[in-house]
Amino acid sequence: MKKSSVVFTLCALATVPMVLLTLSIRENKAEQQVMNAVPAIKEGETRSSEWGKHYPRQYDTFMQTRKSDEITDVLKQDPAMVILWAGYPFAKDYNKPRGHYYALEDNLNTLRTGAPVDNKTGPLATACWTCKSPDVPRLIKRDGEKEFFTGTWAKYGDEVVNPIGCGDCHDSATMKLTLSRDYLKRALDAEGRLKTADITHQDMRSLVCAQCHAEYYFKKTEWEDKGQKKTAAVVTFPWNKGLSAENMEEYYDSYGFSDWTHPLSKTPMLKAQHPDYETFVTGVHSRNGLACADCHMSYVREGGVKYSSHKVGSPLDDIANTCLNCHNGTEKEFRETVEKKLARKEELAKLATDILARAHLEAAKAWSLGATEEEMAPALQDIRHGQWRWDYAVAGHGAFFHAPEETLRVLAGAINKGQDARLKLRTVLARYNAADFTAPDFSTKEKAQALVGLDYAKLVEEKKTFLNTLKQEWFKKGEEKGLYDPASRKDMVLKTSYN
Ligand code: HEC
Ligand code: HEC
Ligand code: HEC
Ligand code: HEC
Repeated sequence: MKKSSVVFTLCALATVPMVLLTLSIRENKAEQQVMNAVPAIKEGETRSSEWGKHYPRQYDTFMQTRKSDEITDVLKQDPAMVILWAGYPFAKDYNKPRGHYYALEDNLNTLRTGAPVDNKTGPLATACWTCKSPDVPRLIKRDGEKEFFTGTWAKYGDEVVNPIGCGDCHDSATMKLTLSRDYLKRALDAEGRLKTADITHQDMRSLVCAQCHAEYYFKKTEWEDKGQKKTAAVVTFPWNKGLSAENMEEYYDSYGFSDWTHPLSKTPMLKAQHPDYETFVTGVHSRNGLACADCHMSYVREGGVKYSSHKVGSPLDDIANTCLNCHNGTEKEFRETVEKKLARKEELAKLATDILARAHLEAAKAWSLGATEEEMAPALQDIRHGQWRWDYAVAGHGAFFHAPEETLRVLAGAINKGQDARLKLRTVLARYNAADFTAPDFSTKEKAQALVGLDYAKLVEEKKTFLNTLKQEWFKKGEEKGLYDPASRKDMVLKTSYN
């Protein structure tokens, strides 16, 4: 063989694997392109399985959020919370968050949402659906925001039938990340640090989460519907003065706003929801440009395809693909680091709830002895501000890790305010010859609920009736309307803190 043909043959042989590789890359490229191309998804499509037909990898990982299904009863872990929330739905039932798969199910099952018997009864407002379902932006579009936020929770029972889904975070026409909730855009513009016009793609990888993982309140808004006066409870973020606990407190105080009046201490109270985003931005990861998705939706490579895992859950389930992407160390070290941060938070949080619960009970005693509003006002202000701080620090369940310094700083403030309240109350109690008063026992959930006059057995019985009747009807009606996605509840097992 001539030298040139040997070279030619060798070259030709060498190209075979190259060609094969190119073909396989092409194949993967083809899949990658399908993933990047935008198939036609109906506007307002709330059934994730419909989106999943075009994006099976995202859909499959998204459905795996069902694996996080443990119920952890927080009131059992720290019964003092029952005293802190007396007169407010959270004293009835409060569990740790589970996977997004359960968002709607847990909202339906919690004792907090009560036991409506038709579409007009029940204790809560429509606003309580807001962070549970892509049916919410669909309904806001259909009925208008003011109508959506008017009336009872049960009003939309047969319309909100799908749990968190693709439509909460993606635009069906472009597949781009989108903010499906206008109240977040209004809050960003009012706060001013990040105007909606300046949002980058990396910002969006946090802001889609901030639509739900943020502090909010229901702003009473009068409006007129064809001459008829109505009141809406519009989800609003208290961000106008900034995102810190003190900024929001100032905002609420300036409106004289309270979520409820505490039946024992008669304090006008604030309930913090879950300021995950607000606390996260103070932490080292946010300041280094990370977004929520960087840890909670890590990239997965399968063959030549790279996509975002939609199994939003604990990053500790996959330390190798999250923390260890950027850090050196072992999985064990990282798990221990996070555990230590959690233990530090728990230590201060437990101190704070114990002190605040005693303050409420001591205030109740002072009232019962005839203390005057003037005597009580300074202590009640401390209770309000102390409990707000504690709640702000702990209600975002990841804050102990996202922003450990800020969390511990705010908890220290809560303890300080709580002790201030108790000092002032001691003086009042002494004036009424009760200087040695000790708060009654609230060491178990049962004792604490009895102490605040909560008829737990009745709540559970009524709830069970609701679960077996109206809840079932809602899904049936949702199905008749072509809204409900049976895949979203496949093999759903009833898990609650009370059954
Ligand atoms: C439409 C509202 C909504 C959006 C958007 C949303 N969440 Fe959630 N998230 C929830 C609710 C509600 C729960 C609690 C579900 C339950 O307990 O049933 C939850 C639970 C979680 C949990 C706990 C999961 C577990 O297994 O313990 C994490 C972590 C979380 N969300 C992170 C995120 C991140 C990160 C994003 C953005 C990529 C995000 N969420 C977007 C509403 C939302
Ligand atoms: C809680 C918000 C959220 C929900 C719900 C959600 N996604 Fe995503 N999705 C994201 C984020 C964040 C990214 C990353 C975007 C980026 O960085 O470009 C993403 C990326 C994607 C991408 C681009 C490719 C990739 O994997 O990075 C596709 C396609 C996608 N999602 C499909 C879906 C489908 C289908 C569903 C419903 C089954 C869904 N998403 C539900 C937040 C969400
Ligand atoms: C640097 C990584 C990282 C980033 C970025 C991050 N988180 Fe987390 N997050 C964690 C870790 C670690 C935990 C604790 C998990 C555990 O205890 O199992 C956590 C916990 C949580 C929890 C509580 C989950 C539960 O079941 O108790 C929520 C909710 C959450 N994060 C939401 C968010 C949101 C929203 C953002 C963006 C605003 C965000 N996270 C950004 C790492 C991160
Ligand atoms: C995308 C990159 C990235 C990922 C993913 C990431 N980190 Fe970090 N982390 C950083 C950077 C950057 C810093 C700041 C380093 C500095 O200032 O020296 C940091 C700082 C820290 C610190 C020191 C600050 C503190 O709050 O105590 C800890 C601890 C930490 N990370 C833990 C984790 C854990 C646990 C995870 C996984 C859940 C994780 N990180 C995921 C980039 C990352």
